[in-house]
Amino acid sequence: MSSQEPVADSTLCARAPEIPPSASEPVAPNIALSSVYRVKNLDDIDALNEGRLSGFFYARDGHPNAVQLGDKLARLERAEAGVVCASGMAAVAASLLALLDQADHVAISDGLYGKTTTLATRELSRFGVLHDAFDPSRLESLESAITPRTRLIVAETVSNPLLRVCDVERVGEAARKAGVPFLIDHTFAPLLCRPLELGATIVVHSLTKLIGGHSDVTLGAALGPKSLIDRIKSVASTFGQTGGPFDSWLSLRGMATLSLRVERTSQTALELAHRLESHAKVRRVFYLGLASHPDADLARRIFVRGFGAMITFDVGGRDQADRLIRSLREIPFAPSLGDVQTTLSHPCSTSHRGQDPAVLARLGITPGLVRLSVGLEDVNDLWDDLGQALHAL
Ligand SMILES: Cc1ncc(COP(=O)(O)O)c(C=O)c1O
Repeated sequence: MSSQEPVADSTLCARAPEIPPSASEPVAPNIALSSVYRVKNLDDIDALNEGRLSGFFYARDGHPNAVQLGDKLARLERAEAGVVCASGMAAVAASLLALLDQADHVAISDGLYGKTTTLATRELSRFGVLHDAFDPSRLESLESAITPRTRLIVAETVSNPLLRVCDVERVGEAARKAGVPFLIDHTFAPLLCRPLELGATIVVHSLTKLIGGHSDVTLGAALGPKSLIDRIKSVASTFGQTGGPFDSWLSLRGMATLSLRVERTSQTALELAHRLESHAKVRRVFYLGLASHPDADLARRIFVRGFGAMITFDVGGRDQADRLIRSLREIPFAPSLGDVQTTLSHPCSTSHRGQDPAVLARLGITPGLVRLSVGLEDVNDLWDDLGQALHAL
């Protein structure tokens, strides 16, 4: 391709530069931004499309950074294969679109992330997909939610905001008995346990949260058996839900410190949860490392790396929650989680906004709840800020 022949300025400017020859390799992954690849001939494009040659031709269908990230996540979750999607919701949506047909039925856990509930109950119902909800803390309700048309069970390892834990082993058993895949959203608990080893079929993550870890990327992934992931990949490409190179690269970079962050934030969160539990202005604390949490025993049984970065507590009502948010000097009210810095959210105004108030009340998701996503700051600095804001209530 290279030519030292003089060419017109316009030609020189327009042509892609050559990749400089190098006897060495970069230590950090390159960012492969190219949206399209030069293919040598028609035999190769056929072979690339049919999977007989490995490589890339169009970034929506695959690019090196997504492959690097998908492979690493798959290894982390002990999965055969992985696909990177444009957001956590893209991973959930691509999975549901791939696994459900018209007139199929999906059994969904109570208290899923609001948009996952909306997807299953309001959007997929437009295409004739039926649903029923089950209470993950009363597994007999799952047996009655499974019908002859059920083709998928969906749950979250740790729910938001009350941090209810799914008994992955028992739901996995029920799914196996019914002969249907079990998809689990593991966004709140990466590394705390491995759902595929406990009986789930597919794990999805919002990488936007703890795995990305720096609030600078929006991305998601689905991990599981190759046959199902290939199908999800194809749907994700067709529906335009795959993720880009830079976000994949950022997620890989965030992942480098995931293990350390999980351990440190679990330690800090446990200490803060104890302090919150004995504070006069706090009505109730939900943290999986506290004996008072209804799922403390289950968490102790299936978690292997601490109890996570999330603490939810009740300050009485919306007004008190608003006053707390206004009084915090350092901890930002930010409707997400998993950042290296501690953030605080108000579920009724954010993640669960727009959900049926009667359902929220039944689930115990009340306007006085605030959810802390604990970061890497010193525990005493965090307590100073929380303490002075609670004092202002
Ligand atoms: C449990 C859970 N799943 C999925 C999502 C969606 O992720 P994303 O915002 O990356 O689409 C979220 C977002 O908060 C979440 O909390």
